[in-house]
Amino acid sequence: TWANVPQGPPDAILGITEAFKADPFAEKINLGVGAYRDDKGKPYVLPSVRAAEDKLVASRADKEYAAITGVSNFTAKAAELAYGADSAPLKEGRIAITQSVSGTGALRIGGAFLERFYPGAKKIFLPTPTWANHNAVFSDSGLEVGKYRYYNKDTIGLDFEGLVEDLKAAPKGSIILLHACAHNPTGVDPTPEQWRQISDVVKEKEHFAFFDMAYQGFASGDADKDAFAPRYFVEQGHNIALCQSFAKNMGLYGERAGAFSLVCASAEEKKRVDSQIKILIRPLYSNPPIHGARIASTILNDPELKKQWLGEVKGMADRIIEMRSLLKQNLEALGSKHDWSHITNQIGMFAYTGLTPEQMDVLAKEHSVYATKDGRISVAGITTGNVKRLAEAIFKVTG
Ligand code: LMR
Repeated sequence: TWANVPQGPPDAILGITEAFKADPFAEKINLGVGAYRDDKGKPYVLPSVRAAEDKLVASRADKEYAAITGVSNFTAKAAELAYGADSAPLKEGRIAITQSVSGTGALRIGGAFLERFYPGAKKIFLPTPTWANHNAVFSDSGLEVGKYRYYNKDTIGLDFEGLVEDLKAAPKGSIILLHACAHNPTGVDPTPEQWRQISDVVKEKEHFAFFDMAYQGFASGDADKDAFAPRYFVEQGHNIALCQSFAKNMGLYGERAGAFSLVCASAEEKKRVDSQIKILIRPLYSNPPIHGARIASTILNDPELKKQWLGEVKGMADRIIEMRSLLKQNLEALGSKHDWSHITNQIGMFAYTGLTPEQMDVLAKEHSVYATKDGRISVAGITTGNVKRLAEAIFKVTG
C-alpha cells in the first residue's frame, strides 16, 4: 500500500538528538535542540515545578476533560503574564485565548484560524532566518509563506534597514511573524527603539502582527522586559496574535503547555472569535492535556511560587550568559583570531556562531559536537565541564 511513500529527511532540529544518541563517544556534546541543562549537563526540573506538582498530587484532583480551550485558570494567568496585569484589552475582556499544545500547537491554531478568517491575503512573512519549523507549520496551515530580511551575516547583527524595506515592500495587510524576544536561531533582537519603528511600519502598511513568544523570561531574565514588543504593539492599537510556550521558561517541554491568543476589537468580537477557535480545535484534538497546564496554573496563581519561579528563570538565563562568556574566553585563550563578541552580544538560548554547514559537519563527525547545520548552538548545553573541549573543537574547525 505504501510503496509510493518516499523516505523523508530527518528533522533539522530533533534529528540532531537522534544522531547524538547514536554516537558512542563518552564526551560527546549535544548543542542541538533548545532544551535547558544544568551545569552537569542534566535536564533541569525547576524546584517551583516540583512544588506545584506536589501540591497537585496532594489535591487528588480529578482527570475530567478540560474545556475545548483548556484549563481556564491557566489561560487567564498566561494572558496576564504575556500582556501584563494592566493591559487595556485584558481589562476590557477582549482577548480571546486558548490553551495549546505548547508553542508549536499555538502557531498551528493561529495559522489555521488565519487561513479560515483573515480578511486580507493569506500570506505570512517570516524573518530570514527563522525557527526551522515555522515554514512547515504555516504552509501546512494553508497559508502562503514569504520572507523578510532579518539577519546581516557581515555584521552578525540585525539587518534593520533590510527588515524595514521588506515590510514596506510587502503588500498592504500582510501577516508578519515576529519573534517577541530571544530570536531563534540568531539570538539577535531589535532594540526598543527599533521595535517602535517596526510598529510604525506595520501600522502604516496595515499589516497584521503575529508574535511568537517562546522564550518569555529567558532573554533578559525578566519576564516583563521580555514582553516589551507585544505589549508595545498592543498599546499602539495593534490587535495582535500571540503564541506562548511554557516549554523553556518553566522547563515543561514534554508537558506541552502553551497558549494562543488574539486581541479583539471588542468583547463582542472576542465572543465570536472564541466560538470559532472552539470549532477549529474540536476536530483536531477535542481538548488539550491538563497536567502541564495545571502545573503552570498552580505556579502562576500562587504569588509565592510565582516569585520563586521568576527567580529560577533568571537563574537559567544567568547561567546561559555565563556560558557565553566562558566559551568566548576559551576561544580567545586558544589564540583564535576571529571576533567572537557576537557570542556574548546575542541573547536567549542560542548562539548563532557563523559556522558554515560544512564546518558543522566536521564538528559532529570529528569532534562529536552536535548542533544544527545553520551554525546555531544551544548555549544551554554548555557546561563548565565541556566548554574547554567545545572551544578546542570550534577553534580547530575555524582555524
Ligand atoms: C528548538 O528550536 O530547538 C526548540 O524550539 C525545540 C524545537 O521544537 O525545535
